[in-house]
Amino acid sequence: MDQNNYRHFLAVLFCFLFLSPRVSCQLDYRFYDSTCPNLTKIVRYSVWSAIANDTRIAASLLRLHFHDCFVNGCEGSLLLDDTSTFKGEKNAPPNRNSVRGYEVIDTIKANLEKACPSTVSCADILTLAAREAVFLAGGPFWLAPLGRRDGTTASESEANNMPSPFEPLQNITAKFTAKGLDIKDVVVLSGAHTIGFAQCFAFKTRLFNFADGKPDPTLDSSLLQSLQSMCPNTADSDTKLAPLDSVSPNKFDNVYYKNLVNSSGLLQSDQALMGDNTTAAMVINYSKFPNLFSRDFGVSMVKMGNIGVLTGKSGEIRKNCRVVN
Ligand code: HEM
Ligand SMILES: *[C@@H]1O[C@H](CO)[C@@H](O)[C@H](O)[C@H]1NC(C)=O
Ligand SMILES: *[C@@H]1O[C@H](CO)[C@@H](O)[C@H](O)[C@H]1NC(C)=O
Ligand SMILES: *[C@@H]1O[C@H](CO)[C@@H](O)[C@H](O)[C@H]1NC(C)=O
Ligand SMILES: *[C@@H]1O[C@H](CO)[C@@H](O)[C@H](O)[C@H]1NC(C)=O
Ligand SMILES: *[C@@H]1O[C@H](CO)[C@@H](O)[C@H](O)[C@H]1NC(C)=O
Ligand SMILES: *[C@@H]1O[C@H](CO)[C@@H](O)[C@H](O)[C@H]1NC(C)=O
Repeated sequence: MDQNNYRHFLAVLFCFLFLSPRVSCQLDYRFYDSTCPNLTKIVRYSVWSAIANDTRIAASLLRLHFHDCFVNGCEGSLLLDDTSTFKGEKNAPPNRNSVRGYEVIDTIKANLEKACPSTVSCADILTLAAREAVFLAGGPFWLAPLGRRDGTTASESEANNMPSPFEPLQNITAKFTAKGLDIKDVVVLSGAHTIGFAQCFAFKTRLFNFADGKPDPTLDSSLLQSLQSMCPNTADSDTKLAPLDSVSPNKFDNVYYKNLVNSSGLLQSDQALMGDNTTAAMVINYSKFPNLFSRDFGVSMVKMGNIGVLTGKSGEIRKNCRVVN
């Protein structure tokens, strides 16, 4: 152990032993440097393999971290399976038949248990998988503070209260500010919708009978036509998929914002960012300056990753992300 590692090791040790207020138990970029030196490599390779098999999984992994952090904080509660005596979050309507990627997290966890048993939390795996997924999809890289521990409970009711594509911007913003995020984070993190897909039911009301029997007037007419043919006005199209960014659905770029400027957002909640002067100015900024978006996205992801984390002696390091030890 070099001197820095040793100092770090001591800090973590003190944190665990005494929960001393003088020794910080906050997250740390180098948290696993001595206990799991190959961590980043293992996560990166696992995410790379998963993307090689299924391009969309990058988006799914990014969304997993969001859905974890917004419910009980970033402590892996999303990953807990229901049992006969335990009701988790996976079957809450915002997650059921929608959130995907759990098997990839299982694979990463299994690989990590071989390299460094009972060391890396599932919550940190979600953080790193999201970071690697964005980078491998062509997006920015940022340093991710680590040291989260896994929760032993879940909140079905909070999971039901996830931001919804059907609620107005003020409501979504209120849900972000309740987590310590702000309006800028709403705009920046919504940029995650530059990759991935949504089911027709999430935006179908915009296509046929939005108001006065007409489609949503804030939806570009040629995109409207193509969405109407992808999502015909019948219930059996509800689970069909459309790209959140119709121009470059697998590339993490700033085209999401260009689309919004062009009235080509998919979800009503996406396009709503252009319906408010403050957020519209930010959208226009990001549509012009990809590097500004890249930088701000990493900053907002770190903020999101800090929501309600468990550190020190709180929680546990799960051996299997689906069950409490
Ligand atoms: C601002 C409020 C948000 C709303 C209302 C929202 C809503 C949605 C909806 C409805 C879908 C499609 C789900 C489905 O059809 O099954 C979706 C997908 C997605 N969301 Fe969000 N989202 C929000 C914020 C975020 C944030 C903050 C992130 C990440 C930082 C994110 C990342 C994603 C990704 C990557 C997908 C595509 C997933 C895939 O293809 O598997 N979203 N979102
Ligand atoms: C890290 O991975 C390398 C191979 O890439 C291996 O030689 C080394 O033993 C691993 N270190 C640990 C601590 O697992
Ligand atoms: C490949 O991706 C498909 C679709 O997501 C999934 O069902 C399958 O399990 C994946 N296979 C591997 C080996 O990861
Ligand atoms: C938005 O929030 C208000 C106040 O909390 C609530 O009354 C309203 O039902 C919400 N709107 C939607 C569409 O969820
Ligand atoms: C959207 O804007 C870009 C320029 O920013 C333009 O090249 C593209 O054709 C526009 N798309 C639509 C549907 O208007
Ligand atoms: C928003 O911008 C529009 C058009 O520039 C302007 O007419 C309106 O007064 C602005 N609203 C607010 C609340 O600033
Ligand atoms: C646009 O970006 C610049 C930084 O390049 C920043 O100073 C400015 O405040 C941003 N404007 C908005 C409306 O976010």
